[in-house]
Amino acid sequence: MTWADEWRKLVLGSSLRKGGDPFTSREFVEWYDRQLEHNGYPGILLDKVRSHLNKGSTVLDIGAGTGAFAIPLAQLVKEVMVVEPSPQMLARLGSKMNNLTNIHLINQRWEDVNIEEVGIHDMIIAAHSLYDIIDIETILKKMISAAKKHLYIIMGVGRSDFYADIWQHFKEEYHPPPSFIYAYNVLYEMGILADVEIVQTPRSQVYSGIGQAVKHWTARLDLPSEKEDQLRAFLRNRLKEREGLLYFEEKGQTAIIRYEKKC
Ligand SMILES: C[S@@+](CC[C@H](N)C(=O)[O-])C[C@H]1O[C@@H](n2cnc3c(N)ncnc32)[C@H](O)[C@@H]1O
Repeated sequence: MTWADEWRKLVLGSSLRKGGDPFTSREFVEWYDRQLEHNGYPGILLDKVRSHLNKGSTVLDIGAGTGAFAIPLAQLVKEVMVVEPSPQMLARLGSKMNNLTNIHLINQRWEDVNIEEVGIHDMIIAAHSLYDIIDIETILKKMISAAKKHLYIIMGVGRSDFYADIWQHFKEEYHPPPSFIYAYNVLYEMGILADVEIVQTPRSQVYSGIGQAVKHWTARLDLPSEKEDQLRAFLRNRLKEREGLLYFEEKGQTAIIRYEKKC
């Protein structure tokens, strides 16, 4: 059994995967973007990445989402190439581009991208975008082949207590997607000794009200309408009200896996 095999098992058994791809829903994307803002994301992660870039650099952001990295990096570097399969995520990213003309969007999964089309970049970033990829080894090799110098993989460390709690309550035991240690060890098995740094990052949730929270989790957990009252009671019990909004405050950790290619 290899780490890549273990990774595959975790992806296929992940509770999140069973619920389908939430990033194809415009409502979910708006909610997701709000969570980033509330948590001050990418914060320290962006500082770490940015320290290796200058105005002549080019960056490839794989699974760029709503542009948490792509937008601020485009203000700093020569060019940012975005690979993102969700049209809804891309639309949100596009709405933030304003007068930035150096972001190029590719609406595809990284697996399907033609490497000649994206070219070689000073830095490759994949932030929280690998959790649904089954064949991790092939993907990592492709990322390394597109990197001139730096590879950054940003991933969660451990599971969210809230997710474990709500899944256990309404579905079954929560099975998280693979955490950073699997990606790190797959790289290790490929002969790549990367650096890893763990940083403290909040992973709190915010909702405009109980109605939004109930709607969000009904869709996420694919619950029948008979469960709505039970879900409402659960969320009322876990979420705290502040200034007219509902919050679940949770601290987390994030791993920054970093590899610098030797020239
Ligand atoms: C959790 S979001 C992270 C977005 C952004 N990188 C960030 O840090 O906010 C994961 C993103 O990865 C994208 N994604 C999922 N599978 C992908 C794949 N095979 N290739 C490229 N992107 C993918 C999703 O569409 C989604 O936008």
